[in-house]
Amino acid sequence: MLLLFSLVTALFAQTMTVRCGQLLDVATGRYVSNAIVTVENGWIMNVGSGPTAQVDLSKGTCLPGLIDVHTHLTSDATGGGYRRLGVSVPRQALTGAKNAAVTLRAGFTTVRNVGAKGYSDVALRDAIDAGDVPGPRMLVSGPSLGITGGHCDSNLLAPEYHAVSEGVADGPWAARAKVREVIKYGADVIKVCASGGVLSKGDQPGTPQYTLEELQAIVAEAHKLDKKVAAHAHGAQSIKDAIRAGVDSVEHCSFIDEEGIALAKQHGTYLVFDIYNDDYILQEGAKAGMLPEAIEKEKLVGKVQRENFLKAWKAGTRMAFGTDGGVYPHGDNWRQFPYMVEFGMKPIEAIRAATVEAAELLGFKGKAGAIAAGHLADLIAVDGDPIADVSALKNVRFVMRNGKVYRNDWSK
Ligand code: ARG
Repeated sequence: MLLLFSLVTALFAQTMTVRCGQLLDVATGRYVSNAIVTVENGWIMNVGSGPTAQVDLSKGTCLPGLIDVHTHLTSDATGGGYRRLGVSVPRQALTGAKNAAVTLRAGFTTVRNVGAKGYSDVALRDAIDAGDVPGPRMLVSGPSLGITGGHCDSNLLAPEYHAVSEGVADGPWAARAKVREVIKYGADVIKVCASGGVLSKGDQPGTPQYTLEELQAIVAEAHKLDKKVAAHAHGAQSIKDAIRAGVDSVEHCSFIDEEGIALAKQHGTYLVFDIYNDDYILQEGAKAGMLPEAIEKEKLVGKVQRENFLKAWKAGTRMAFGTDGGVYPHGDNWRQFPYMVEFGMKPIEAIRAATVEAAELLGFKGKAGAIAAGHLADLIAVDGDPIADVSALKNVRFVMRNGKVYRNDWSK
């Protein structure tokens, strides 16, 4: 019987062995040479050594699949401002399929997508899970919750169009009902716009939008239903309101002050600073259709945000890697790593933000973010030494997600 059982498991188990020239242990920051990773049915079974392996990555450095906790796969960077109005929801889903493949090939095996129209993100997540299209594992929010006229409303059209974005809800009970609604239609996480933004029309990043009372209602409802909350907040007051209300992460964090930093530490709130895309907005934004006022607002945000990233990191806040992919072209997510290093992190710390730390924020602690037995088989390999030069993360040559190989440049 036992023999039969082992025979059957041996026949049906999909075992694969992978040899890594160097394997980065993100916990210690050290390399293990010539490691053999054994993968079975999408999971890592063992990390050890041995004479042979089926997949040879001996020229490469293996790392856990990277995680970006702030993306917008269903939109393209070239479609800013009024151009967005001409893109249908089904078209956005197809744009998402394209960008999911690009993002996966760039080494990101998990993303949290925070804000999409018409549940195009839910459709994309489900298509990826079904194996219909290649892409990273996705946690999605559906439409972002926001106030009338706020960053997460659409303010581009004249009043007679009566345009109201799907996530708009004013007042604590309406906001609670909206949390229920987006969960009903498939959201894994709640995205809420606490402050104004850069790319929106007619508001200011530093100005509060949702009140503390509304934020508390949103967080209470989401947590009751076992979902986490990500709050867009540039302004100092909104960041503090969001943290006090109990959100799980604050996105952008541009004008965070000393008190906000202290509160984030006290509450253990993750801060997600998207400190790369200032470059793209200032250099390419006008060509990409972004509003002139958005580019002016960016000039007030970008530099301060980077300085505050340094302050918050030095103070010891928890941070997860999130880039706002879609504001800049998908696949360029790695470009944020050198900035994180320039503004205070060691390369290994930036890599931890995109692996173990991001995994913890997403609720995947012990399941993703490390190459270790019992973890999902999400593994990438790059050319070069990312600990010596974090820009090596642009040289992705191999990508495995859930035990399936999506890219192997060395097999050619
Ligand atoms: N989606 C954000 C907003 O419109 C983008 C901010 C980008 N700027 C930056 N420095 N991170 O507010």
